[in-house]
Amino acid sequence: MFEVEYLDIPPLKDAGGTVRLPGSKSISNRVLLLAALSRGTTIVHDVLASDDTAVMLTALEQLGCSVQKNDDTVTIGGLGGKLGTKKASLFMGNAGTAMRPLTAALALLGGNFELSGVARMHERPIGDLVDALRQLGCGIDYLGTPDFPPLRLYPGNLKLDAPICVRGDISSQFLTALLMALPLVAHEDMCIEVVGELISRPYIEITLNLLARFGIQVRREGWQRFTIPAGSQYQSPGHIHVEGDASSASYFIALGAIAGCRRGQNGIEIIGVGSESIQGDIRFVEAARMMGAQIDSAPNSLHISRGSWPLKAIDLDCNHIPDAAMTLAIMALYAEGTTVLRNIASWRVKETDRIAAMACELRKLGATVDEGTDCIKITPPATQLEWKTAPIHTYDDHRVAMCFSLAAFNPARLPIRILDPKCVAKTFPDYFEVLFAVTEAAPASIPVICIDGPTASGKGTLAAQVAHQLGYHYLDSGALYRLTAFAAARAGVGLDDAAGVARVARDLPISFKGDRIFLGLEDVSDAIRTEASGMAASRVSAHTEVRTALLALQHSFRSLPGLVADGRDMGSVIFPDASLKIYLTASALHRAQRRHKQLISKGISATLQNIQHDLEARDTRDISRRSAPLKPADDALLLDNSDLSIEKSVIQVVDWWQGTRPF
Ligand code: DC
Repeated sequence: MFEVEYLDIPPLKDAGGTVRLPGSKSISNRVLLLAALSRGTTIVHDVLASDDTAVMLTALEQLGCSVQKNDDTVTIGGLGGKLGTKKASLFMGNAGTAMRPLTAALALLGGNFELSGVARMHERPIGDLVDALRQLGCGIDYLGTPDFPPLRLYPGNLKLDAPICVRGDISSQFLTALLMALPLVAHEDMCIEVVGELISRPYIEITLNLLARFGIQVRREGWQRFTIPAGSQYQSPGHIHVEGDASSASYFIALGAIAGCRRGQNGIEIIGVGSESIQGDIRFVEAARMMGAQIDSAPNSLHISRGSWPLKAIDLDCNHIPDAAMTLAIMALYAEGTTVLRNIASWRVKETDRIAAMACELRKLGATVDEGTDCIKITPPATQLEWKTAPIHTYDDHRVAMCFSLAAFNPARLPIRILDPKCVAKTFPDYFEVLFAVTEAAPASIPVICIDGPTASGKGTLAAQVAHQLGYHYLDSGALYRLTAFAAARAGVGLDDAAGVARVARDLPISFKGDRIFLGLEDVSDAIRTEASGMAASRVSAHTEVRTALLALQHSFRSLPGLVADGRDMGSVIFPDASLKIYLTASALHRAQRRHKQLISKGISATLQNIQHDLEARDTRDISRRSAPLKPADDALLLDNSDLSIEKSVIQVVDWWQGTRPF
C-alpha cells in the first residue's frame, strides 16, 4: 500500500491482464452487521479488508461480538439481537456504511452509546435518520451541530406502533439503516414509508437481498412502502460470500476502454463481479458500453477491451450508479464532445462534495467543466496541447484518487501526481499496485533516480528511504554482485573464472520478499552482508562478462511507478537516461567510522584502521577496474554526506527530484 504523501504516475500507454477485485464495501459492511445481529455463527468469505470494514469490525467487537479474522475470511459469533454491552463510545471514521446502520440498530436495542467520526463524517447529514428513529421513541441527542454526527444514544420509550417515515431523497443509507434495524423489534408488522423520491435504489436492492439471506423477507410496495413482517428474526446463513466490488470494477472497465492493448495480452479480465452481481454499480457496464467500451460478461467476470476510439460523449441520468458514475467523468476526458452526468445530487454529501471536487480537479487537467446543483458537464481539452498537469487533490476520497489515476493515459503524455494516495484504503488498499500490474508505460518514461558512490557511503540507506518516500521500487545492485559471488562459491566456481561466474549470474534464482533476499528458497540476506562477501563481490564485479550478464536483470527493476537504484554504475552505465543522478561520497574516515559502528553493534570485532584500509582497497579496485569503473556520471550531482544526517540527505535528494518534475 502506498503510504506516501504523493504518488507520481508516469504517462501510461497500454493495459492488459487479470484483476481480482477486493470484496464490495457495501456488501461487506452490511453482512458483518447482519451476522453480528443474528443468532448463530456466520463465516463471511472474501470480506473487503479496508478502513471502512475495520471500523465496523472494531465497533462490533466493542459491542461484545466475537470476531475472528483469517485472511479474507471473518467468523462472527452473532449476538442474537442482544448486545454484550450497553455502553460504548464508537469511532466510525468516515464510514457511512457503519455510522448509519449502527445508529439505527443501537438506538432500537437501547443503551448508552456515543458515535463519532472524522471531521468530514461530522459534516455528513444524519438528521433524517435521527428524525425517523425519534418517531419510534428512541433517545438520540446531537453532540455537535444539529442534524450531524457525533451522536449520543440513550434508552427511550419505544412506540413501535407509530408510523415510520424516512426521507429517501438525501441518502438511501437512512432507509437501509432502518430496514436492517427494525427486524430487531418486529413484534408486529413494521411498515416504513419513504418520503420524497428514493435515490440510489440499487443499494436498497442489495439490502433487501442480504436481509433475505439472513431470514428477513421484506414486503415491498413500489419504492414507497416497505413492511417487515411480525415475528421476523435474524438467523445466520452459516456461510456467506461477499461479491467483488462493482464500483471498484469501474476503474478497470474504464481502463480497458481507454488503454491500448498490451502486447501478448487480450484486454482486461475482471474477476469478482459479472452478469449475476446484485450490486447496482454493475450497470456501469451499460454506461461504459455507451461510451464505446467493448465488454463481454460472464456470471462472475467481465472482459473489456477498447471498442470505439476516441470514446463517445454521453448524456446520462446516473441516479442508478452514483459511485461508479465518477469514473464516467474521467472517461469523458477521452470522449469526443461534451459528456453530461445528471441526477447526481448525492455526490454532494459523500466523502467530499464530489461534484465540486471533480469539477475542480478536471479543470486542472485542461477540461472545461460546468457544475450544476445535481449535474456535471465535461468537455475534454480540445487538443493535445491544451492538456495540463497539476497535483490532484483527493479530498480524503478514495474514488477521486482512483478515478484520476486514469488521467495518466492523456495524449499529451504528462505524468499525474495523486496527493494522499493512501486514501484508497477506504475500499481498495492495493489499488495502485493492482493498476501498475496491468498497465504499461514506455520504459523511458518510467523515472529512475540513481545513487552511486563508494562502499559505506550510506547510499543503500539513502536510496531505500527515498524509494519509500516516493512509493518507488528499490534496486540494491551491489546485492546482485554479492549474490553472484555467493552463488559462484556455492557452485564451486572460482571467482576469477569470468565465464563461469557470468554463467552463474545469468541464471541467479533470485527473489525479493520485503527487504529479504532469497537465492532459491534460501534467505541469504545476512550471508551476503559480511565484509568477505563485499570483497568477493568486488572481485567478480570486475569481470565485463559478469556485468553484461547482470544487465537485463537490473533493467527489469525499472517498473511502474518508478525506481531508485544504488550502486557504482547506475547513472553512468545501467540507466544513462535517468532523470536524476547522484554521486554520494563521504571521507574514507567517516565511512570507516560508520562501518565500524555497524560491525560493533552486530557484535563483530574490528579495528577502525583495518576497516579504513579495506575500504580504500575496495575503492581502488572499483575505481581502477576497466569495466564500468566507479566514477560519477557526467551529469551527476555530488552529495558529500560526511556531515549530513540521513534525514537531511533524503530531504536534499527529494528536493532535487522535485526540481525535475513538471508540478
Ligand atoms: O554496494 P556493495 O558494497 O553492496 O557492493 C559490493 C560490490 O559490488 C562493490 O565493491 C562493487 C560491486 N558493485 C559494482 O561493481 N557495481 C554496482 N552497481 C554495485 C556494486
